[in-house]
Amino acid sequence: MIEKAMNYARNLFAGDSSGHDMDHTLRVFRMASRIAREEKADLHIVQLAALLHDVDDRKLSPKTYENKDNAVTFLRENGADEDDIRKIVEIIGQISFSAGNGAPTTLEGKCVQDADRLDAIGAIGISRAFAFGGSRGRRIHDPEGGDKASSIAHFYDKLLLLKDLMNTSTGKKLALRRHAFMEDFLEQFYGEWDGER
Ligand code: ADP
Ligand code: NI
Repeated sequence: MIEKAMNYARNLFAGDSSGHDMDHTLRVFRMASRIAREEKADLHIVQLAALLHDVDDRKLSPKTYENKDNAVTFLRENGADEDDIRKIVEIIGQISFSAGNGAPTTLEGKCVQDADRLDAIGAIGISRAFAFGGSRGRRIHDPEGGDKASSIAHFYDKLLLLKDLMNTSTGKKLALRRHAFMEDFLEQFYGEWDGER
């Protein structure tokens, strides 16, 4: 089942450059699995939710976003338990930052949300922010600060807020290190921008 979900996501994401690529999904899968083991969550639910968490993303698949049709159809066609389907769909609906949700209601959802958020910070998160900005033709930085859509502005809109939004103790611990790395990065970035470093 896990392998089928991997193949399903890989097919769906082929060709996407918005940051919702298969590499992201596999990193979330690995991190969510690790967190689930440390937090003693239901690994099967966590792994399936991680692999399917972006298959009905609002930007990527606006038509299926509302009812998570891609995830539900995949799970039904592959004989998943109806109770598991309900749990997985609930998790997918609860984890997005842009959806403005609070914390997920289940331990499994908390594991997947932490893994997804960890992938938005640290060295990987920095890389994704500039890759996303580049895909939209945005500036890397606007020193006058008027341009709310620069990739550096995104650090203040979202990335630097994530460490305080982690759910699990494993997630919190990892987020601290990734957060410190982003702060170092920004300090060096501004120094280089001004010709001081
Ligand atoms: P989520 O799955 O939480 O809704 P998004 O779809 O908003 O995440 O973002 C996907 C990736 O693109 C993340 O790494 C995020 O930080 C990055 N990203 C989103 N919006 C911007 C932006 N305006 N500038 C730079 N990076 C962005
Ligand atoms: Ni994601």
